[in-house]
Amino acid sequence: MNRVSLILAAGASTRMKSKTSKLLYPICGRSLIHWAVQQASVFSGTIVVVTGYQRNEVEQEIRRVASSELKINFAVQEPPLGTADAVKIGIALLNSYPADTDVFIMGADSVLLREETLKNFGQHHEKENTILSVLTAHIPEANPYGRIVRNAQSVIEKIVEVKDASPSVLALPEVNTGFYIVKLSALREALLSISNQNTAQEFYFTDILEIARKRGWLVQSFSIPKEEAWGVNTQEDLALARSHLQQRINHHWMREGVCLVNPSLTWIDADAQLSPDTKIEPGVSIFGKSVIGSGCHIKSWCILENTKVGEGVVIEPFTHVHDVQIKDHCHIGPFARLRPGTVLEPHVHIGNFVEVKKSHLEQKAKANHLSYIGDAFVGAGSNIGAGTITCNYDGIQKHQTKIGEGVFIGSNTSLVAPVEIEDGAIVGAGSVITKNVSKNALALERCEQKEVKEGATRFRQRKEDY
Ligand code: UD1
Ligand code: CA
Repeated sequence: MNRVSLILAAGASTRMKSKTSKLLYPICGRSLIHWAVQQASVFSGTIVVVTGYQRNEVEQEIRRVASSELKINFAVQEPPLGTADAVKIGIALLNSYPADTDVFIMGADSVLLREETLKNFGQHHEKENTILSVLTAHIPEANPYGRIVRNAQSVIEKIVEVKDASPSVLALPEVNTGFYIVKLSALREALLSISNQNTAQEFYFTDILEIARKRGWLVQSFSIPKEEAWGVNTQEDLALARSHLQQRINHHWMREGVCLVNPSLTWIDADAQLSPDTKIEPGVSIFGKSVIGSGCHIKSWCILENTKVGEGVVIEPFTHVHDVQIKDHCHIGPFARLRPGTVLEPHVHIGNFVEVKKSHLEQKAKANHLSYIGDAFVGAGSNIGAGTITCNYDGIQKHQTKIGEGVFIGSNTSLVAPVEIEDGAIVGAGSVITKNVSKNALALERCEQKEVKEGATRFRQRKEDY
């Protein structure tokens, strides 16, 4: 059977009251439109997306996130005259498709719908050889969704939007989730007779249910749990959807053996990977495509973005890590900042108030206090004293600092790059190093210390006499 998915993504996101289309808002690391493309791909690898509002940005985001196996075509709806108008514009791209093609039609804002559910929906439609299938949910409490109206035989009569609903229709518990599968021939026929005679003066795709009943088409509904039905129309919906999805992700990792000390205060993106026996304290965020090995302990209020962490790593509180590789048994923080391009080999220690950017630290290297290490290579076992600064920027260009193996850099040292400290060298505290230091040398750069005998006593005396 021919299949194609159609995502309606042209709406103006009016209820978000934002300059940014809701489809670009992220939830657990994926934009709403990314989640939608993922859902559409469950039904078919060929997807038509109808864009309009902020269409360049939305299309760019789709190209960024869609896997290369998907075949995605764009249709443009401007202005947005309603969901039926969007479907009409979308299926204009399907002229060469056979009449019995199943078209999966979906809004782009129902992020909680599980891929598994959509798979079952597709199978159900095919098995029953239905012309039109609609995904519904039972939500007894007040909600903004179109109501499913059935007749005495339980056959769907129509869908009534909230704006057009009488109190008795509003009281109906079954709602439209905005997901449908329709035979292409039926779609083409039905769209000819959908009008905009309603309160919103929009072309409602939901009118297709009434048309189907009048024509005697075989219509089926497929009911899903209400937790999956929530669409994102407002900022409140967005927050609610995010918290549900986060809960789902967190529970998944707990089932996989990850210890989340307080799951409601832990944020893990959908594309992050964790491993068993890792303990995550409250307030931790693990964003993007981070991968965390087993036996790690990540303490409170750390933020890890697109970061690979090996096994047995300890990250102390308030550490921020972005695009970094931390190998096994490193010890980081508290209050450390690891910036993009940094690689820490096993057993490296990075302590409090240390910033590391685009640097490679070999095994067992240590920088435990108050330092800036940028554009540097640090050899195995070297010790960087408190307050060491690699002066990597001369105001025009960035330069490299190379520190060999087993080097000792004394506290409060400035290493003015480009500069190399060879293996086994020692740099005395307080030095400003502008020239290379050779292997096993002791480099000192500071004024000689003077001592004035009884100088302090005379100074105090002067103060008293004043
Ligand atoms: C829609 C359904 C409603 C259902 C709800 C489920 C209609 C008329 N109503 O309402 O029955 O309960 O979804 O979440 O379909 N869009 C366009 N072009 C347009 C208008 C909308 O592409 O001209 C897109 C939007 O970007 C969105 C989707 O269609 O992705 C649904 O539109 P939206 O305005 O969110 O519809 P709802 O009011 O939520
Ligand atoms: Ca919606």
